[in-house]
Order: sequence, then C-alpha cells, then structure tokens
Amino acid sequence: MLKPVKILTKNYGVPDSHTLAVYQANGGYKAARKALAMTREAVVDEVKKANLRGRGGAGFPAGVKWSFMRPHPTKPAYLVVNADEGEPGTFKDRTLMELDPHRIIEGCIIASFGIGAHVAYIYVRDELHLSKERLWNAIKEARAAGILGPKALGFDYAVDVFVHTGAGAYICGEESALLNSLEGKRGEPRLRPPFPAQVGAFGCPTTVNNLETIATSPTIIEMGGEEFSKLSELHAFGDGGCRLFGVSGHVNKPGVYEACVGLTLNELIYDLGGGLPEGTKLLGVIPGGSSCPILRPHEVVQTSNPKSALYAYNGKSVLDVPIGVDTMRELGTMAGTTCAIVLSDRACPVRAMHNLIRFYRHESCGQCTPCREGMGWMERILDKIVSGKGTIEDLDLIHEIASNVMGNTICAFGEGASMPMLGFLRKFRKEFEEYIRTGGKSSTGRLAL
Ligand SMILES: Cc1cc2nc3c(=O)[nH]c(=O)nc-3n(C[C@H](O)[C@H](O)[C@H](O)COP(=O)(O)O)c2cc1C
Repeated sequence: MLKPVKILTKNYGVPDSHTLAVYQANGGYKAARKALAMTREAVVDEVKKANLRGRGGAGFPAGVKWSFMRPHPTKPAYLVVNADEGEPGTFKDRTLMELDPHRIIEGCIIASFGIGAHVAYIYVRDELHLSKERLWNAIKEARAAGILGPKALGFDYAVDVFVHTGAGAYICGEESALLNSLEGKRGEPRLRPPFPAQVGAFGCPTTVNNLETIATSPTIIEMGGEEFSKLSELHAFGDGGCRLFGVSGHVNKPGVYEACVGLTLNELIYDLGGGLPEGTKLLGVIPGGSSCPILRPHEVVQTSNPKSALYAYNGKSVLDVPIGVDTMRELGTMAGTTCAIVLSDRACPVRAMHNLIRFYRHESCGQCTPCREGMGWMERILDKIVSGKGTIEDLDLIHEIASNVMGNTICAFGEGASMPMLGFLRKFRKEFEEYIRTGGKSSTGRLAL
C-alpha cells in the first residue's frame, strides 16, 4: 500500500540541507547522542528489532550483521559504507550524499559504536563529484564541531569518518572487491570464508553496509526499532520500515521517492512515477536494478503455501505485491535496490537484453573463468542475434552458458548477470523467436531500453 513518508528525506528540499547548521536545527545528531548513551548491545538490538534489511541489494538483516562483530583482542574493527552505487537504474544513495550528508555521518557514529569500530570509510563512486564534495565538507564541519574526533559528541568514544573514492568499476560495489580496492589492491572479489566480520578491511573485523542502510540508523534509534519496523506492510515477515525507491525508464516522472516498505510496483510506476508516456503500454519492469529478473504485467501470483509472504496476494497481479526482499524473491526476482527500470512496448526486449550483456561483459573483473568467458560469449551471440543472423539454437546456448555461470564464481556478479539473461529469455521467448525468424524486422523502430 502506498504510504509516502518523509523520514529519510525529511531534509530534502530544505535550503542548505547539506550544512551542519540546518541539519542540527532539524534535530540532527540527537539520535547519535542517544545511541552513545546506550550500551553497544542495546544499539544492535534496536536495529535488529527494526527489521532493517540491507538496502544494497541482498537484503541481509542489518542488526544480525552488526551482531557478528565480536571484539578482537589485538585488532581494531572498521565500518565500511558502500556508496559505489554502480547498479544500472540505481541512483538513490547519491541523493542522500548530496542533500543530507550529515545524516550519513550520524549513521556512521551510531553504526561504528554498535559494532565497536572507531573508524568508518565511505567508499564513493568517483564520478559522483557533488556527493564527494558534500561529504568532505560535512566531515570537516563535524570534526570542527567535535561531533567527530577522539570524543565524538563529547562522549568517551572516538569516531572518525573518511571518504575513499573508487574509480568507477561496478565490481568494486561487491563488498569484498570493495575491501581490496580500499586497501589499494586490484578490485577483485575475495573467497569467503573468512567473511568480513572476521577478516575484512586491512585484515581486521569489518562490517560493510550500503549507504542508505547506515543513513537509516538515526531514524531507528530516534523512533525505536519496533516502531520503525511497524511502518512496513511486511513487518510480520521481518522486512521493516521505510526506504528509498527509484523509478526510471519509460515513465513520466522518473526519480527517487520515499515510502514505507509495502509499496507495490503498480504504485511505484503509476502513482509515484506518473505512469507511462501516452500511447504506450507496460512491457515489463525490472524491480530493483538491472540484476533483478524482469516481471511482466500479465503475471499472476500462484501459491498455496499459507506461510508464504505472497499468500495474501494469491491470484493477484505481480505488480500488486508489496515490494519486499522475500516477496520479490518468491516471485523469482529480487527487490534489489528497489530502483525499478520500466520498459514500455516501445522497447525491444532483444535489444534491451543485448544492452545489459554489453554492460556485464565490460564489468566482469575476469577473475573467474565462467564469468569472464561466459559474459563475452553471451555478448557475441547477442551481437549476432541483434544483427539479424541469429538462430533458435543460439537461445538455448545462451540459456546453457548463463546456467553454467550461476554458482560457479567467487562472487554474486555471475548470478547478477545471468539471472536477468535467463529472465529475458523465459519471459520473452516468443519475441526472441519472432526477432530471429524475421531477421530483426519484427522489432524495427523499437528502443534498446
Ligand atoms: C557485482 C556487485 C555489485 C554490487 N554493488 C553494490 C553497490 O554499488 N552498492 C551497495 O551498497 N552494494 C552493492 N553490492 C552488494 C554488496 O556486496 C553488499 O552486499 C552490500 O554493500 C551490503 O550492504 P547492506 O547489507 O547494507 O545491503 C554489490 C554486489 C555485487 C555482487
């Protein structure tokens, strides 16, 4: 159900919202003061009660992740904030960095205290120039005001925050590649175990969280975890609160919107995104960044399992299901970053899929053979299909390659690239066959995305 809120975005639109004066005038840093007066365990407990699922894509419960951090006898702990935001169609974290950088610093103080860290690194995609500038200025202001430093906000707890810039590689958003990049090494994913909570940045216990996840923690401390969780329609399924949603592609009002968890794709596309351009119809929607398999408007929920998060929506359109980590997973796709890409019937699914594989081939780090070779192979086959020289057997070959990449790579890039390929093939089989049969003429004039 559409419940627009202005919690994470409460300072959006306020003049000079990025400055310390405005942030504090609107109640900023009260939550960090409250957290620093609590015990570390109590802070983690609130985040657990909040049912805050990671906003970076995988949806892991943030409170549970924080509780994995155990004090080490000799090594420091680190917080690493993932602001690489490289997923195509995703542009929510940059709004927080540009419009409310102090909320991120406040989140860093709370999370650092919760996990026992004294240093937080924010890993920012290099081309986000305004984001970096706003973060640097906010850190400078916070240090000068004693908010950051050896006695953060006057408490006997040291916290400092540093910005580290990436160089625009999508793989560096993957948490273990990010850690390598942060350490000055080549941005290639690491084998796990050990997990970052044991061996993370510089060989020390580390929590990696998405930037929005961290920016949500002040609200949780302020409201209390349970109250925050109850904002969500999926509270009973362990998916709480409010979050940022993005919508782009063929809609009239693309942008970033805040709503309670429970918003449906129909509401995101039509109520918030302003619907599709006149004269066009919905072809499909990628719910949360390009790695999520596409959904089509005629698909209907089918489940007879009363324990399923989808049970209440049985028989309804998939577009009327609340967007949640588990609901989308049960539909065979993902909530991902909840930044949807909308395709109207002016888009050609064959060219759209070609467009995606070009991205994934370019961004594969090349460390794992199935991914390195598989991406290039699928791209070459799709080059052939798009140029009108494909065969029906090529479709089966793409299916086989994508299936063989899945589960055979060090990181989830392999799945993130293969799942949308399999999704496009399954959902648009007829269109692909028609394209091949007519040498592409069936798709004349249609767009790649
Ligand atoms: C190829 C790839 C790219 C990723 N890019 C990002 C990213 O840009 N930002 C992000 O927060 N998480 C990204 N992730 C997910 C991270 O690995 C990690 O799960 C996340 O930062 C954890 O934060 P969260 O639990 O708060 O969501 C990516 C994962 C993969 C496999």
